[in-house]
Amino acid sequence: MTQIKQIGVIGAGTMGNGIAQTFAVAGYPVLLQDLSEAALERARKTMESSLGRQVKKGQLSEEAARDALARISADTKLETMADRDLVIEAIVERLDVKAGVLKQLDAICRPDAILASNTSSISLTQLAAASAHPGRVIGMHFFNPVPVMQLVEIIRALQTTDAVAEAVTEVTRAIGKTPRVSKDSYGFVVNRLLAPLINEAINCVYEGLATPEDIDSMMKLGANHPMGPLALGDLIGLDVVLNIMETLYEGFDDPKYRASPLLKQMVHAGYLGRKTGRGFAEYH
Ligand code: CAA
Ligand code: NAD
Repeated sequence: MTQIKQIGVIGAGTMGNGIAQTFAVAGYPVLLQDLSEAALERARKTMESSLGRQVKKGQLSEEAARDALARISADTKLETMADRDLVIEAIVERLDVKAGVLKQLDAICRPDAILASNTSSISLTQLAAASAHPGRVIGMHFFNPVPVMQLVEIIRALQTTDAVAEAVTEVTRAIGKTPRVSKDSYGFVVNRLLAPLINEAINCVYEGLATPEDIDSMMKLGANHPMGPLALGDLIGLDVVLNIMETLYEGFDDPKYRASPLLKQMVHAGYLGRKTGRGFAEYH
């Protein structure tokens, strides 16, 4: 199994820039790719501000933050991933789009390069089937915000080799995260529990039980959650929450996972949460 040294991250959005930053802080050279220079520029600004918070908290020296940023290069061309040992995709939560990128990576990356997906809910076995080398595909599921959240859910596809699983578990520890293994099941463990919670909170708003603020406040005051479920949906991105609910609903064919009508309306209206400045709250 190749020694993991060179990291590639595809998708520089909410999760991708945090994953790139986390590997860079741990000393790995990272190549970050997205579809546009604008997306890469936004990612750099986000990483600079996130690293600045860690410096302010005394978690990181100024020099370590500067060195981390210097380890991250960015490009819009997928072909630049050719020399990577581990490529993590954090692009849109759509099986067809992810499968398409895996196929492109088959032609670009070495056959022994590991292809990991940060998918929230999609079957890794279905994803692996898109690659000519399915044994190298695995789920590496980070949590938002990546610099802060300790967990990485490791999900093996039926096709994933032992060597790939061992190498990914090892590198997860090397970047200071805690690996926990979930079976390849829709939504894995955390999102099987968390997405329906957020969806039910949206149903409570839809049915007029209480205001979004009060629902969030009740879960913080009554269940000691660090943030309320609606604020969490805004942090994750309501488009991502809807994608997860649709994967659970179709995957398990179980009406209990039906997405709230209000969740669909919010996504149709483009009110996706923090990333568009408006969800169940407004963000400036
Ligand atoms: N980069 C670096 N540091 C950050 C950060 C970032 N992006 N965001 C927050 N922090 C740090 C802050 O510096 C602060 O540090 P101290 O406590 O040491 O001062 C700490 O985290 C708390 O940040 P804030 O004070 O800004 O706000 P907060 O106290 O409300 O914490 C939070 C923010 C960490 C997000 C907290 O509210 C929280 O843990 N919320 C729950 C998040 C969660 O459940 N994530 C999982 C979602 S599910 C998922 O990700 C999977 C999926 O597939 C959808
Ligand atoms: P996002 O919408 O914030 O970012 C996605 C990024 O991918 C965008 O910058 C987009 O330009 C880029 N992209 C889309 N198609 C691409 C392609 N073909 N090639 C290169 N870049 C492409 O999404 P996100 O919230 O970061 O989610 C990304 C993935 O991570 C999804 O699979 C999601 O389910 C998963 N995830 C999200 C969270 C969360 O809290 N948002 C947490 C864990 C996992």
